[in-house]
Amino acid sequence: MKIEIKNICCIGAGYVGGPTMAVIADRCHDIQINVVDVNENRIQAWNSENLSHLPIYEPNLDQVIKRRRGRNLHFSTEIKYHISNADMIFISVNTPTKTKGIGAGKASDLKWVEASARQVSKYAKGETIVVEKSTLPVKTALMIRQILETSLEKTNDSQTDNKQFYVLSNPEFLSEGTAIQDLECPDRVLIGGENQEAIKALVNIYLNWVDKEKILTTDLWSSELSKLIANAFLAQRISSINSISALCEATGADVKEVSTAIGADKRIGNYFLNASPGFGGSCFKKDILNLVYICNYYGLHEVSEYWQKIIDINNWQKQRILRVIVEKLFGSVSGKKLAILGFAFKANTNDTRESAAIHICNELIIEGGNLYIYDPRVTRKQIEEDLEISENEYSYGGEGSWTFADSILDASRGADAVIVLTEWDEFKNIEWSEISTVMRSPSWLFDTRSITDQSEAKRCGMKLWSLGCGSKLQSINLMPS
Ligand code: NAD
Ligand code: UGA
Repeated sequence: MKIEIKNICCIGAGYVGGPTMAVIADRCHDIQINVVDVNENRIQAWNSENLSHLPIYEPNLDQVIKRRRGRNLHFSTEIKYHISNADMIFISVNTPTKTKGIGAGKASDLKWVEASARQVSKYAKGETIVVEKSTLPVKTALMIRQILETSLEKTNDSQTDNKQFYVLSNPEFLSEGTAIQDLECPDRVLIGGENQEAIKALVNIYLNWVDKEKILTTDLWSSELSKLIANAFLAQRISSINSISALCEATGADVKEVSTAIGADKRIGNYFLNASPGFGGSCFKKDILNLVYICNYYGLHEVSEYWQKIIDINNWQKQRILRVIVEKLFGSVSGKKLAILGFAFKANTNDTRESAAIHICNELIIEGGNLYIYDPRVTRKQIEEDLEISENEYSYGGEGSWTFADSILDASRGADAVIVLTEWDEFKNIEWSEISTVMRSPSWLFDTRSITDQSEAKRCGMKLWSLGCGSKLQSINLMPS
């Protein structure tokens, strides 16, 4: 089989397909790359003249697109045509949690992967390497291979084509907000497969910019499973530190100091130890739910329960923060104006999928709060879609509502509390002397990311609650016997 890849097609122009293909195009000028999608609006946005209208925001993505789009990087809805011309096809479609039927609420819905495999099976010509880029349950490659093989049987019968498929797993480890950096300097690239020539073809692409030592090759199942496990371990650290944030509040310790102290042990390491209102994003929850489902499927119920706890703590963290806010505001937020700073699930992205802000804001609206939401990148339309309530429309007995704010100051005018939910840099240097004067007294700062200048806020007369930061006075209390 041929090793040199000249033409790539990527099915799925989302958060992974778009940036990943852009970086491959940037590093491999001799390869023509077509990113295809069924979503016409998305493709139109990828093709927009004005680079601030790209469908996703990632630092430096616009520069990469500017360099390669129209040269060796193209975005299109011509799925059939580009599949038929490709030597290598990446499947980078969504794999959300099933919402109904067998495995609902846990198993991954693979209908988009299946549809992609069927399209490839039908339209691909000659030798084609099919690469799983989406995060998939272990053994999905078997399903893909079976779908591809049905078309081989048919073509062999009619003797019209000499199709041949090779399936590889090449999971993506990028994080949103640092996607371009992660793709340009990955910790590792993982490639699982059986056919050595196909593996070599993909390795050769990455060798254009990634060191040989960082390219790991495995069997298919280890590669597929490693992706789920990497996400499960990362989420586990967040739930661990979030559980400890509650203990710090109860005992008078400071979770930031605890994180620094434990992270200094290089066996533990200091990454992913920031307490938060709970992990969000499109993947951690769905991937752990999928892991829980797979463990149950194989009869490993104790293992499944262990991983389920990571999700349970994450839900509990959001709920307990909500309770703290309501309690501190004299037991009711009804009719009170609350400034919400940050709606994205993390900083440096416009993505809000599974953001802790969605749950906390919805619950505050149910409690009757009037929210003024400011996020540097999230649009009014996105917030409306996520909260499922129109802007300024009173809900739940005519009290709770939300309004889009253009700035921190705009959100804070007349507010009883400022609630920081996303760790945007802009929130680290808020001029509390300015903000505190436009708020109603007593003015509260609830910092669920512990990123603001809290001593300054206190100096300006604000009351403060910071996640994981226990009152120092409590530390003199004796433990109950
Ligand atoms: P996404 O929803 O942003 O994009 C998926 C795209 O695939 C959509 O635009 C959709 O229209 C398109 N699509 C679906 N079926 C199609 C078909 N049959 N033909 C053509 N287009 C089709 O999803 P995403 O965030 O890019 O995630 C994709 C996969 O990568 C998921 O499995 C996810 O778990 C995994 N992943 C995501 C991230 C991340 O940071 N978002 C990181 C690593 C891995
Ligand atoms: C995560 C993984 O980090 C990526 O390696 C993986 O490729 C990706 O999922 C995926 O499979 O989709 P992502 O969700 O983009 O990336 O972002 P993270 O930086 O992991 O943050 C996830 C959530 O955890 C965010 O809500 C963030 O605020 C939260 N978090 C992160 C914490 O609460 N504390 C931390 O210390 C770190």
